[in-house]
Amino acid sequence: MRFNTIKYMEWAKLYQILNPVSFDLSNSAMAPPEPSDIGVTVEDAWWAGANHYGHPELKGLIAKRWGVKEEQIIPTGGSSLANFLFAASILETGDRAAIESPYYEPLGKILEALEAKVTEVPRRREDQFQPDVDAARKAFEKGAKLLILTDLYNPCGVHLDRARLKAIGEAAAKHGATVLVDEVYLDAMWEERPPIAATLGPQFVSTNSLTKVYGIGNLRAGWGIGRKDLVERAYRVYDYLSVLNSMPADRVAIRAHKSLDKLTARAKQRRAENFPLIKKFVESRNDLDWLEPKWGFIAWVRMKSKARSPAVQDLMRKKYDAQVSPGHFFGHPDHIRLGCGLPQDKLAEGLKRLGMALDELR
Ligand SMILES: Cc1ncc(COP(=O)(O)O)c(C=O)c1O
Repeated sequence: MRFNTIKYMEWAKLYQILNPVSFDLSNSAMAPPEPSDIGVTVEDAWWAGANHYGHPELKGLIAKRWGVKEEQIIPTGGSSLANFLFAASILETGDRAAIESPYYEPLGKILEALEAKVTEVPRRREDQFQPDVDAARKAFEKGAKLLILTDLYNPCGVHLDRARLKAIGEAAAKHGATVLVDEVYLDAMWEERPPIAATLGPQFVSTNSLTKVYGIGNLRAGWGIGRKDLVERAYRVYDYLSVLNSMPADRVAIRAHKSLDKLTARAKQRRAENFPLIKKFVESRNDLDWLEPKWGFIAWVRMKSKARSPAVQDLMRKKYDAQVSPGHFFGHPDHIRLGCGLPQDKLAEGLKRLGMALDELR
């Protein structure tokens, strides 16, 4: 194992949490609800009970909503932990693995920590940011035991094309490999959300949480879904890290899961109200372009001028009390990622300030 610094995580904790700005366009999540919105009571803090293999009621709620069996579920402290548990269940030191590229840095760092030999599967702009199926096939042929994808794709918000996912799944199955799809943004497709990857075949696993669409990241309520033997192995790995989830967190998560329709409606409304502001901003400027994402809270925006993300970030923080998610964390300093989950007045002012910073850096 080799735990290097996850630079994005270091940045996010320092600048989103410890030294926040007034107009933060970097966040990819919906703003949090109030405890009363999901009916939290003081009794939910009660810690006794048995959740050693996932809280039974919580697993029941997840199984019902995402169309899987309870034995396929491991509730975890966030989708991040589910990603790690599955990857560590599948890979041994020196194994081959693959990941979409560009990628959300913490996902790549899991493979690095497990000392995997990594192949990148490109998601190119000219291909609408869909994964290159041939590259995935070749990775499996070369022995990759695991491929990590995201759906909706972070940073672009693009939905993973089902025909491609199926083709990738067939190639994985042929070589006994697993495809992990991080679906932490997928519920932002609302009623158009397709069946999750883990329901498409035993070679797929899905991870998700209440962090993004539902806005409750600090609860650390995530889960992994996969075939029974893999989930059992993930529980064994969990024994090394945390043994079991916090019971009060599980009880509050149960409240949230019972309120998902309400939380979804809230997120849907915010997306409908806020996203047009980002669209108008990007499309009104000749120094920016993008592939407009149909769903979700994030937009991946290319800067055609000489502006680069470290300078944009620096200037915005120092002069404009605002920030964006810098593209260099995804290996693309000519990009910035914008989020629209914040209150509308904050978003509008943040975009105005971003425009001034971009004008200065042209
Ligand atoms: C693709 C992806 N997965 C996981 C996470 C973290 O989610 P969680 O809070 O569920 O661990 C993020 C957060 O930015 C993300 O973008």
